[in-house]
Amino acid sequence: MSGRLQGKVAIVTGAASGIGAATARLFAEHGATVAGFDRNAPTAPHAGVEYLVADVTDGAAIDAAVAQVRARHGRIDVLVNNAGADVFAQPLQLSDGDWQRCLDLNLKGAWNLVRAVLPSMLDNGAGSIVNIASVHGHKIIPGSFPYNVAKHGLIGLTRALGIEYAARGIRVNSISPGLILVPRIEAWFAAQPGMREQQTGLLPCKRIGTPDEVAHTALFLASDEARFINATDILIDGGRSQIYHD
Ligand code: NAI
Repeated sequence: MSGRLQGKVAIVTGAASGIGAATARLFAEHGATVAGFDRNAPTAPHAGVEYLVADVTDGAAIDAAVAQVRARHGRIDVLVNNAGADVFAQPLQLSDGDWQRCLDLNLKGAWNLVRAVLPSMLDNGAGSIVNIASVHGHKIIPGSFPYNVAKHGLIGLTRALGIEYAARGIRVNSISPGLILVPRIEAWFAAQPGMREQQTGLLPCKRIGTPDEVAHTALFLASDEARFINATDILIDGGRSQIYHD
């Protein structure tokens, strides 16, 4: 296999499961030194990934974990901000605590990581940051508040920082997946008979996306192949979000 990230040091958050696990594994297979940050230890660790237990909402813990990676490997070239989770509520029933929890994880967590890795990237005059946003950052699915607010914010963070640091060699892009078949989605389908067929039927391509398909998009954005791509977002949803009416 060609080493599209050969010699690069990458941090992937949420690396213990789903899209993050697939991304960390693919980056390692493409020659990167990969540090996988997660609040949980992985159930199926990949031999090529160094796992660090770190909560992205804890700024001090993230600073320490990033410092550890930089001390061990000397540089940080790539950051994938992938850790995130759904927080869905009826707006008037949302507690302040859940609002804060949603924004802390899905938006501030990414900023905690960016702030920690930027000094290393700026020292090197190069870096690629990839934020895993969502179709919820583009379109509104009723009942998805305030997760959709946070994902809109994450796309805003991507564009703002991509411009702020463009002249200093840093690229910041995001990926917006549609429904992707990770273990928690499998569990949802298992608990709700007919849901898999219903969700599959909504997609123009009549199949659900895989974590590897998102990981390959992250690989491209992280690599030098994407060196003129900055401050933008790639939708990976099989075309679903282009439909106005079914
Ligand atoms: P997942 O639940 O399989 O994996 C998320 C990982 O993030 C888990 O390993 C979890 O332990 C970790 N994590 C959660 N909170 C954390 C924290 N505070 N600090 C460190 N790690 C933390 O979920 P999935 O589906 O792989 O999601 C990854 C990203 O993709 C999320 O940002 C999600 O919003 C986004 N996404 C997922 C879609 C899907 O259909 N699976 C669709 C659109 C976006």
